[in-house]
Amino acid sequence: MLQIDTPRSPSSLPFPDLYARVERHVPRFEWPILAEDIGAILQLKRERNAVILAHNYQTPDIFHTVADIVGDSLALAREAVRTDAAVIVLAGVHFMAETAKLLNPEKTVLIPDLRAGCSLAESITAADVRLLRDTHPGVPIVTYVNTSAAVKAESDICCTSGNAKKIVEALGAPKVIMLPDEYLARNIATQTRVEIIAWKGHCEVHERFTAADVKSLRETHPGVTVLAHPECPPEVVAECDFTGSTAAMADYVGRQRPARVVLLTECSMSDNVALQYPDLDFVRPCNLCPHMKRISLGNIRQSLETMTHEVTVAPEVAEKARRAVERMLAIG
Ligand code: 13P
Ligand code: SF4
Repeated sequence: MLQIDTPRSPSSLPFPDLYARVERHVPRFEWPILAEDIGAILQLKRERNAVILAHNYQTPDIFHTVADIVGDSLALAREAVRTDAAVIVLAGVHFMAETAKLLNPEKTVLIPDLRAGCSLAESITAADVRLLRDTHPGVPIVTYVNTSAAVKAESDICCTSGNAKKIVEALGAPKVIMLPDEYLARNIATQTRVEIIAWKGHCEVHERFTAADVKSLRETHPGVTVLAHPECPPEVVAECDFTGSTAAMADYVGRQRPARVVLLTECSMSDNVALQYPDLDFVRPCNLCPHMKRISLGNIRQSLETMTHEVTVAPEVAEKARRAVERMLAIG
């Protein structure tokens, strides 16, 4: 005899309100498994007095359920200063956790997987920055937050994709060194009179998009609005309708409501924004960031259970690196 189970109605599922936020992304039969970790994380957050800061590239099951604060790198840095929780779990990559620790030396900052790195952060060392300073005496050094604390410590000021132009111009210098992302530097150089000396670092996710991809998207999806992150090559940016940080792209979609849109960036970004705007058609060529994808509900839960992995920064590095981040936050 064949027996067919009827799917459980959403209201009979655990945490129905949370499921409603992700039901277009998470199949109903998978939810009870995720809900077990979600329930444990919500309880652990209360017990530990912890908050979860999640980057826009985290998967929807994290982004739309357990995260307390979501945003781009700039928002996460700002919110890290504002929180009065004792513990910060950074659902993102290592440089983001390190930045949160720099701004909160007295708090416990945890990252669920220490291997969550970044190809940009890997592309430059503190010794490289010292060499650049010797080669270009007197030229201020603007360092993208996607770097280690040791690299930040050798810099004059930090920037993110959300404020890079503002920071470069606020220095009032005719020439700046901007590192390590060559494409971000070249994209900003097209918007300012300040001369920019770049480094050869690239984001392994965004460097893979090409101008030919954009042209072919426009042919196959007529009328599509193309948004790109400024870590994309300049020839990609030149073909797009809008370029901005992950938060700026999400804002653009919310404001302009393009009927059909593609976000040339990490895949979960589209997934998260699409859940907020079910009436819009999201075209999905995207690239996964293997580092962001190391974070899961399972290891967030484990992180809070075992209070690992704690992120620390040597005091002599931390003091100088903090100064570079705080200078950035003071400008905006
Ligand atoms: P945002 O600061 O724009 O969120 O970018 C961070 C990042 O790692 C993009 O690849
Ligand atoms: Fe780094 Fe690129 Fe991943 Fe962002 S998407 S964390 S820049 S590797």
